[in-house]
Amino acid sequence: MTASIIDGKAYAAGLRARVAQGVAGLKAGKGITPGLAVVLVGDDPASQVYVRSKTRLVAEAGMTGFDHRLPANTPQADLLALVARLNADPAVHGILVQLPLPAHIDSAHVIAAIDPAKDVDGLSATNAGRLVQAGSGPLDFPVACTPLGCLMLLKDSLGSLAGADAVVVGRSVLVGKPMAQLLVREDCTVTLAHSRTRDLPGLCRRADILVAATGRAQMVKGDWVKPGATVIDVGITRVDRPDGKQRLIGDVDFEAASAVARAITPVPGGIGPMTIACLLHNTLQAARRAAG
Ligand code: GUN
Repeated sequence: MTASIIDGKAYAAGLRARVAQGVAGLKAGKGITPGLAVVLVGDDPASQVYVRSKTRLVAEAGMTGFDHRLPANTPQADLLALVARLNADPAVHGILVQLPLPAHIDSAHVIAAIDPAKDVDGLSATNAGRLVQAGSGPLDFPVACTPLGCLMLLKDSLGSLAGADAVVVGRSVLVGKPMAQLLVREDCTVTLAHSRTRDLPGLCRRADILVAATGRAQMVKGDWVKPGATVIDVGITRVDRPDGKQRLIGDVDFEAASAVARAITPVPGGIGPMTIACLLHNTLQAARRAAG
């Protein structure tokens, strides 16, 4: 079998176009322009790349971007004061504090300070808890962007996910845990696997839906994939090429897995573009809710 490629880049472009239409409608109908504040502390190179593309795509969607770049030695109290100002600013509908934060800052404390209505990353305890408690109705609160993007691609590729055996590898707060919750809501039977899971290859081989979010390049081998499975690769490890440029590698051995799977996301061009598109989607939704 040769897997079909799940084109996240194309899906994300379509989603961004729909968001831009929604933004135009909100401006025309209610005179409200959705605003997204992005806060970057320090000079982590990968974070700088993400934040640059976020800034560009926010403008392309017709939203207002508020960029705050703070030095790496910013005291936690100053960051909390900025979050409080953004919480109070009616022009700001979404707040994203780029992670990871420098080691002297308690990320959980900062995330907890964000108004849940503006927490477009869906990382606050309030929004993470809402996801755990959500029934089958619409998700009327922000959901973490990367797993939301994975879910959109899975539904686009498979239609109904009901009854599928899903294995999520990786138990992060940003991806693995919310991904498992979203799949449970879609009536999948979900196993959340991690570094201490016994016989991980054997477990993965039982998955109709396999989501790899370990951050370990090419950890998931071709013979871990069940024939006919749908494979979602969240990994983006940067490796240096001989010509000095960098290339991105996923958590799945793409060549081997695509010989076995039914459908698979590539890296790059799979989940990566979906994360920012979902951030824009969440910001539009937050602005709509604020508009009442
Ligand atoms: N760093 C890498 N991915 C993300 C994300 O989705 N949200 C935030 N805030 N930081 C990140």
